[in-house]
Amino acid sequence: MTEQGRTAARKSYWDYPYPHYREIQRDTPVHYDEHLSAWLVTSYSAVVDALHHPHLSSAWLDHRADLHGKDAANARYVRSVFSRWFVLVDAPEHPQLRKSVIHAFTRRAIADLTPFVERRAAELLAAAIAAGGPVDVMADLATPLSASVIAHLLGMGQDVAAELPRWGAVFAKYLANAARTDAANETAAAVREISAVVRDQLPDAPAGSLVYELTNPVSGEPASVDDLVSTISLLLYAGLESTSNLIGLGVLALAERPGLRAELAGASAETMAAAIEELLRYDTSVLQVPRVATADMTLGGQRIHRGDLVVVMLGAANHDERRFPDPDTFDLRRDVSRHVAFGYGVHFCVGAPLARAEAAAFFTVLLRTAPEFALTAQPRWSSRHSVRSLDALPVLLFPAH
Ligand code: HEM
Repeated sequence: MTEQGRTAARKSYWDYPYPHYREIQRDTPVHYDEHLSAWLVTSYSAVVDALHHPHLSSAWLDHRADLHGKDAANARYVRSVFSRWFVLVDAPEHPQLRKSVIHAFTRRAIADLTPFVERRAAELLAAAIAAGGPVDVMADLATPLSASVIAHLLGMGQDVAAELPRWGAVFAKYLANAARTDAANETAAAVREISAVVRDQLPDAPAGSLVYELTNPVSGEPASVDDLVSTISLLLYAGLESTSNLIGLGVLALAERPGLRAELAGASAETMAAAIEELLRYDTSVLQVPRVATADMTLGGQRIHRGDLVVVMLGAANHDERRFPDPDTFDLRRDVSRHVAFGYGVHFCVGAPLARAEAAAFFTVLLRTAPEFALTAQPRWSSRHSVRSLDALPVLLFPAH
């Protein structure tokens, strides 16, 4: 099927939301949505402006009335942990908190982690092939791989890796829709479980792991258990589902494009890296990031008032045809250096080097182990607007002989 035919065949919003975004993008790149009571920012230039606007704050948690109340004690406990997530904090605290983890994502740290990622990807693929029949890429490969990598990075045992997706899902559900009466209780229970695991595993964290480095700093105060719980829960929330979906979305893109599969099998590291950048643009796993206006301001010609919620739509920006011509086409050769899949500005994704390396390792091992694969049913999408999230992706792998 051609690229145009493929886009036309995906009519529903969940299958492929980008043409739907472009309808609003053309008329009103900054548009007030009455239903959401929020501004939607969709054009590439307005998205970039929003992400470094001095009056748009990342501390939107306080403006979510539904996150207050209900079960007050548990809601307060969850808030005390989430309010130290540096993705939700502005300067001057933001750079200090961010600095505490940055060493885990240096080129050197990622190079050290890569053999583990390759080994784990190979193990998961071998187990999936040995089981026979279709595999669910999300449940059998992408989610366990991302969870294992985060556990390894933290310095926690692989038994903990099995729990990480559940905790990550609880946090995502809470922040997406906390209005349920049991949401704060469920989230507080997950945070307490993380706290218990941290206390239990802290003495065994290997030197060089993030937990070890945070509790044995070269200078400054060692992190407390509460600091660790906050950092771990943030990395889980920000890094697990996003990366497993990057892998799932990549398998989907490759399953539909035999030519691309052939080109990437045995490709150089540069070609694989280019394919991953285009994948990040073409199917953006974090579709939106929220902000709140701290003063009256103008964006894309619209007057925004202090306290207004602003939804910055990264996926829409990555499909703005004024920035990326023919945006619904996967083009390995396009210049994607300015895509915004990892955000932009001071909150640019701290885990981007890990996500890139993990995806490169996974696709290299996949195409070596099973150069051919095909969907056995349509993907199942989760119905959340903020992320491009696959619930299931059934695929039949044809192993190399
Ligand atoms: C921030 C996307 C993987 C940890 C962000 C932001 C985006 C993003 C868009 C900016 C948020 C904002 O401006 O409000 C992604 C995508 C990923 C990915 C698409 C995978 C494909 C990871 C991984 C980790 C991670 C693997 C860590 C294990 C973080 C953290 C922040 C962040 C801690 C907050 C940075 C800050 O506020 O300074 N990510 N991310 N992410 N990401 Fe990622």
